[in-house]
Amino acid sequence: MKKIPWWFTSIGEQEKEQVIEAFDNRRFSLGKVTEELEKQFAAMLGVPYAVATTSGTAALTMALMSIGIEPGDEVIIPDLGWIATANAAAILGAKVVLVDCLPDSPLIDPKAVEKKITKKTKAIIPVHLNGRACQIEELKKFNIPIIEDACKAMVSKHKGKCLGTFGQLGCYSLGMVSLISIGYGGMVATSDQKLYEKLILIRNQGVESYENEQYLAKSFNFKISDISAAIGLGQLSRLDQKIEHINKIYRTYKVGIKDLSFIEMIPVDLDNGEKSLLIEVRSKNKKKVMDYLVDNGVEPLNFHIPLHKAPYLNNEGVFPNATSYADESFILPCGPSQPLENIEAVVEILKKCQIN
Ligand SMILES: Cc1ncc(COP(=O)(O)O)c(C=O)c1O
Repeated sequence: MKKIPWWFTSIGEQEKEQVIEAFDNRRFSLGKVTEELEKQFAAMLGVPYAVATTSGTAALTMALMSIGIEPGDEVIIPDLGWIATANAAAILGAKVVLVDCLPDSPLIDPKAVEKKITKKTKAIIPVHLNGRACQIEELKKFNIPIIEDACKAMVSKHKGKCLGTFGQLGCYSLGMVSLISIGYGGMVATSDQKLYEKLILIRNQGVESYENEQYLAKSFNFKISDISAAIGLGQLSRLDQKIEHINKIYRTYKVGIKDLSFIEMIPVDLDNGEKSLLIEVRSKNKKKVMDYLVDNGVEPLNFHIPLHKAPYLNNEGVFPNATSYADESFILPCGPSQPLENIEAVVEILKKCQIN
């Protein structure tokens, strides 16, 4: 039986050509190709600055470093998402303060955030889970720096603006599960020139120039190579095509499974510009439905467990909404190159499912 994988990356000829060009230029390290990718990425988002790095996690870490997060500072993060967001803060010695999501959406609850704000709160990181816009206007009212985790929300829009461009800084993943996949990679975007200058220093050991070498800031090596950036340029050139395809996938599922009582899509607002990178669904009978899919040659993917399950984060309290989302949700086959026939096949398989 042919298996339908949960994810299908889109890789084209452009990427190969771009890599060969970077190769021929003999520029493997951070160079002109990376600069070009940053320029095009920033233009796509509509911001002046984008800084490329090795992963979405590195992007979040750099963003936190750029606003001066120190050991003991508190960073508010949603309990539902991916542990990378919390690890980026924890690795800097910050205290990760988890908050629940809303009851009717898997996104951070601004009221729950407000209750956790203290004098030590130095940043809030809303996670725009799978392209859904958090209540960013509500969060901005707290006047605390916002680093948007748009790692899985690239080019997803809210009120006509890209997610990741509302706060001080926005972070993106260019990992395998992304609309721009370079294997491992990430991007930090900002409109603030001072933060941009700090990010550039942080990426390169706090050194501005090798000619007049000075160690200007506690930093790290967060650089990517031009070979990776070359893949990114190829990926970026086919972005519209990929967006169109993932929109088609979402709409095919939406129509196909709307009458099934045992499963529902966790909505993404495509009509208002959000993009659904993944197809997230919810079922009270999650395990049975996932087992049924596997028995029928379909590979679903489980939802991430809530972050409060990480013992080293030491977060007490209860997170009922995040817990129920995590317990009941999983991901159906999707991805920018997933053939539509596969999606139609999954829909037909689900329609034959006898679980109630
Ligand atoms: C919400 C969220 N934040 C951060 C990351 C980290 O990105 P990366 O895997 O590129 O480090 C991911 C990756 O899946 C993610 O889903």
